[in-house]
Amino acid sequence: MNTTTANHTNASFDLPSTQHAVLITEFGEPEVMTYQDGVDVPKLSDDQVLVKVAYAGINPVDYKTRQGKGWGANNIQKEKFDHDKAAILGFDVAGVVVKSNSDKFAMGDQVAALTFAGGGYAEYMAVDANLLAKVPNGVTLEQAGALPCVGQTALQFVEFANIKTGEHVVMNAPAGGVGQLVVQQLIDKVATDNIKVTVICSPEKYGKLDTFIDKAKLEGWIDYTKDEDFPDLQADVLLDLVGDDAGVRALSTLKSDARVKVLPTIWADKLKEAGEGKNLTVDGFTCKPSGQSMAEVLQKMHEGKLKLHIQNTYPLSDAVAAHTKLQKGDTFGKIVLAVDPDS
Ligand SMILES: NC(=O)c1ccc[n+]([C@@H]2O[C@H](COP(=O)([O-])OP(=O)(O)OC[C@H]3O[C@@H](n4cnc5c(N)ncnc54)[C@H](OP(=O)(O)O)[C@@H]3O)[C@@H](O)[C@H]2O)c1
Repeated sequence: MNTTTANHTNASFDLPSTQHAVLITEFGEPEVMTYQDGVDVPKLSDDQVLVKVAYAGINPVDYKTRQGKGWGANNIQKEKFDHDKAAILGFDVAGVVVKSNSDKFAMGDQVAALTFAGGGYAEYMAVDANLLAKVPNGVTLEQAGALPCVGQTALQFVEFANIKTGEHVVMNAPAGGVGQLVVQQLIDKVATDNIKVTVICSPEKYGKLDTFIDKAKLEGWIDYTKDEDFPDLQADVLLDLVGDDAGVRALSTLKSDARVKVLPTIWADKLKEAGEGKNLTVDGFTCKPSGQSMAEVLQKMHEGKLKLHIQNTYPLSDAVAAHTKLQKGDTFGKIVLAVDPDS
């Protein structure tokens, strides 16, 4: 199937050849991102869909990539910078299909996806159809744009943790982008699997947790801003969403032979080393994007089983301010870029 003979062609949409987008031509501080006009609208490959972007979520992986760190930056270096091409950041997208090379999606469909190919900080984004899901009624495009990375990660991460009946689970960063969705699933398991949940956060974030959970269902909470040792809770599982020294510090809450699941995977080895005396099993976890996973998390939002708090929405032209805010590391919920909110 090619772009001109697809079942769902762009016959009734008059698409421009250029667009506004946020480009980087080098790694560095937020200011390396520049909002520009006259950027080519992407061409579609087989089984891709062109999405007119309404909202694009931003995630810590975006600013790490912009700083030149990790697999995202390596890909940009090889595929773009080494060929003197600019790159467009952004792995989260929600918007409207304006051209389709897929039988599964038609023009006008509202869709969302997580795609590690990037390109979300733009008016138009080409997305592999197998990564997309339709946005159900009752879920706004703003929520859908905030959800792809944190939603798919939170669902897969809790499944990966394989928490068993009666276990005591400790987690940090329960009010962050991923954390808010992880803690809601854990609280559900308090009722269904009789687990205990202790959260590690600042007093400010503890004060706001009622936004997504019934705090009475927590076993307890630990104020990490106090300069004192964490309690030995003899907990069975640590879900570490912060890593580094914060992750190491949380190990003292665990019993011997406990399990540690690390979301910022670069810190898994550090925690493994620090936990040797307790014979801990430490595993890093990486989200695997798929349309099915996207559909599952959207459905949970639609059914009211998961709530998503959006802290700030910035216009696309303010991507620098959005990154500056997110990389402070103290968000309450999600930060989103509004690209074309009227889609
Ligand atoms: N491996 C993967 O596939 C994958 C996928 C998604 C995300 N990640 C990684 O997972 C991490 C979390 O992502 P996110 O989107 O949830 O980040 P985020 O929204 O930026 O997390 C912010 C939260 O972290 C909390 N926090 C910061 N320092 C803390 C500490 N020392 N102890 C306890 N809480 C602390 C903050 O609360 P306070 O204000 O209370 O400090 C804030 O609410 C990031 O490193 C991200 O890169 C990995």
